[in-house]
Amino acid sequence: MKLLIKSIILMTLSFIITGCSVRNQEQSKQQSVENLLASMTLEEKVGQMTQIDFSVFGAQAPKGDDLIDQGKLEEALLKYHIGSILNTPSTPNNKAQTLQTWRKIMQTIKSVTAQSRLKIPVIYGIDAIHGATYIQNSTLFPQAINMAATFNPDLSVKEGEITARELRVAGLQWNFSPVMDIGRQPLWPRLWETYGEDVHLASVFGSAYIKGYQGDDFSSPDKGLTCLKHYVGYSYPFNGKDRTPAWISERMLREYFLPSFEAGIKAGAPTIMINSSEVDGIPGHANYHYLTTILRGELGFKGFTVSDWEDIKRLYTRDKLAASPKEAVKIAVMAGVDMSMVPSDFSFYELLLQLAQSGEVPMTRIDEAVTRILNVKFQAGLFDQQQTVPLTAEGNFATPEALEINQQAARESIVLAKNDHNILPLKKDARILVTGPTANLLSVLNGGWTFTWQGDDESLYPSDKLTVLKALQKKSTGKVTYVGGTAFADRIDIKKAVESAKNQDIIILCLGEKPYTEVLGNIDTLNLDQAQLDLANALLATGKPVILVTIGGRPRVITAQAEQAKAVILGFLPGMEGGEAIADIIYGDYNPNGKLPISYPRNTNDIVLYDHKPIEALEPNAYRPLYPFGHGLSYSHFETSDLAVEKDTYAMDESINLSVTVKNTGHLKGKEAVLVYINDVAASVTRPNKQLKAFKKVDLNPGQAEKLNFTLTPRDLSFIGVDLKRMVEPGEFKVLVGNETVVFTVKN
Ligand code: BGC
Repeated sequence: MKLLIKSIILMTLSFIITGCSVRNQEQSKQQSVENLLASMTLEEKVGQMTQIDFSVFGAQAPKGDDLIDQGKLEEALLKYHIGSILNTPSTPNNKAQTLQTWRKIMQTIKSVTAQSRLKIPVIYGIDAIHGATYIQNSTLFPQAINMAATFNPDLSVKEGEITARELRVAGLQWNFSPVMDIGRQPLWPRLWETYGEDVHLASVFGSAYIKGYQGDDFSSPDKGLTCLKHYVGYSYPFNGKDRTPAWISERMLREYFLPSFEAGIKAGAPTIMINSSEVDGIPGHANYHYLTTILRGELGFKGFTVSDWEDIKRLYTRDKLAASPKEAVKIAVMAGVDMSMVPSDFSFYELLLQLAQSGEVPMTRIDEAVTRILNVKFQAGLFDQQQTVPLTAEGNFATPEALEINQQAARESIVLAKNDHNILPLKKDARILVTGPTANLLSVLNGGWTFTWQGDDESLYPSDKLTVLKALQKKSTGKVTYVGGTAFADRIDIKKAVESAKNQDIIILCLGEKPYTEVLGNIDTLNLDQAQLDLANALLATGKPVILVTIGGRPRVITAQAEQAKAVILGFLPGMEGGEAIADIIYGDYNPNGKLPISYPRNTNDIVLYDHKPIEALEPNAYRPLYPFGHGLSYSHFETSDLAVEKDTYAMDESINLSVTVKNTGHLKGKEAVLVYINDVAASVTRPNKQLKAFKKVDLNPGQAEKLNFTLTPRDLSFIGVDLKRMVEPGEFKVLVGNETVVFTVKN
């Protein structure tokens, strides 16, 4: 007993001491920021708020890996006191660099910083959205839409850990990721950068990524800092084109678009990038209500905001909201933008300086923004790193463990949507024809932000990675015939493909999209182009069984073809290991378990999402996508049963415990994600017919069953009330899992 009391006292003391020392560290950091701020000139402060692109100081004619024009870099850092830089080197051609080059770049920047008066470190930002995209030979994961399809957030934690480590080896740390936008507009060319249409799924995956990337302390040598983007409402353009207006009411914003950012802030993301477009007539960069009232006042965000590319200028040049570039700077800074991704000149610096000197932007606002930026720089440990060397490549960069996680993520992200009469898996000795524009390219599996912004330079892709065709060839013991081109745009000889099909057992037809991102990916219809449809229809007409594989960032309409195909595999953007993952599934070397994180539309104008309102599914309307949210087959079978809530009645502030049993009733070991939905039976604001609130993925042997427990919180039952405040309303709620429903009541 004495011993127990002693150890309790010791533990309590150590908690108090650790608590105190954490508090002391915090206080001393705060003091350092205050001292630093007090010693800064206005010019130095405005410089901290300025972010420039590498091209501003890139060498015109670089020699070897000397990519920097030293004079221009010194001008940026010493004359303009620039606080932040972004992007991969513009010269030779805006592409991924070797680790050595990155280290050299970062070292050069540090050595120029060391010559500055206050030696404030630069914070360097990079888009490492599915791995370290701008570092050669890095581990490139499935894109976010695929990560969500795994329904396995542990993989997202691992992706974050690995990406942070690989960036730190290069000397980089700040990642413009994760995308916390909700993908509810399938035309939008950045849909695949999101975790899909569901708020809960996106919140869980984004938070998991942040946890992995940042750990408990993002100044640790193998961790980094994340940037939530693009706050807020960017993903829902009315006409589907990138950077066009969204019309989102305050209720819809709070219900669908804010919660994932709220989750990201809770998970500890210290920076946020702003919506490049506009919502409800107000450009993201001019929206005081979003950037200050909600973000700071309600969500309690303490870090700094960064503009998106050139977007302060665009308040004048594009939006005609400001009457001059100077007014644009004033509007943005006063709305709550702390750092401007200018990024190609020093205009923001010059204009903000003038605005501060004339008092049009008060010093208090400048000090506030700079304090936030310096705080994050301190928290990231950047001040201590001026002297330190980056993490060693060995054991940290492109490791066998990272490869294994990536392979696992790719496999778990592939959705088997249809499998008539169990045509899949195929026998390895089957004679197959492989054709279609996405069959033999690595770029189509990876999408945008891969080695280059658009990800479409096939020549940059590693020769040892496998396309779908090459992976099938590797695994097949039969004859594999390929009819296709070498680039996405190559027209496939339909006659030749049909002729060849006659001698085959099976056709594997790979359709889809070329890589793209942002405005360059805009389309006018979700329909596939005629050339692909012609190829598909001609092959289907041969009567040979067709396995349809789609690859690409958006759900392009394949209804007629999918109905005739014997099996359909939805690959989306499974990353560098995606070709092999698809072949593994085709030949049964892996039992598929991916599930759709979006509703796959049947027709281009039939965009009804799974969490629609009752009115959207009343006859003659219906929620009848080609494949619904959460759909995905296995080579095994799973059944859920015994869904039960612990009690019939709950108080308003009580959590709800529930359980359900899942059983593998098939003959193969496999994984299954169990999805828990709720429905508020009657409410003062119309509620979706169901909403995902929890999920778990389990791995079960044939015949094995597992009881799963879930806890729903009052927040899970809440909605945005008539007065636009989040609330729980007493009444009946349904829990829906598989084919079962149970009801409970919440009482006042
Ligand atoms: C994109 C952002 C990206 C930024 C920096 C912008 O065009 O919208 O997502 O982080 O460029 O590359």
